[in-house]
Amino acid sequence: MAKLEIVKVPNPVLRKVAEKVKGYTSDLEKLAQDMAETMYGAPGVGLAANQVAVTRQVIVIDVSAPDKPKNLLVLINPEILEEEGMDEIEEGCLSVPEFKQFVERPTKIKVRAKNLKGEEVEFTAEGLLARAIQHEIDHIHGRLLLDYAGSIKKQLYLKKRRKLLKQDK
Ligand code: NI
Repeated sequence: MAKLEIVKVPNPVLRKVAEKVKGYTSDLEKLAQDMAETMYGAPGVGLAANQVAVTRQVIVIDVSAPDKPKNLLVLINPEILEEEGMDEIEEGCLSVPEFKQFVERPTKIKVRAKNLKGEEVEFTAEGLLARAIQHEIDHIHGRLLLDYAGSIKKQLYLKKRRKLLKQDK
């Protein structure tokens, strides 16, 4: 396994709509493993392939507490079939450093995806898991946490990021 670099705003790959995975080859398993290692190392509770500059519909998630055994979920071509309830919670994102945003999302979702064997899986997720899945599905559609902010907050943040990146050069 290898830890990958997490790309950050304003990298345009974060805005790409990722392509559906068709073939289930060994490189897919390697990608998922590398993404998992990158997520655990960050540390974070979820990561989408766009965040490691790969535009394929692959997400990894683990919302188990740090002191609990790992419970990795790899979802390929995930889609939401049904949703229920709504709440608003503040989220962060590894690709949007030093940015927090309250986001309204359904609290319970029914998900369809493929696993690493290419088998179709369907399940219901609630709470933090449901939220993390929705956040990562946003990523593979090119949508970012920033998009839930008002335009002034968003523009100020982007300005600050560009300034910071210029200083780093
Ligand atoms: Ni994110």
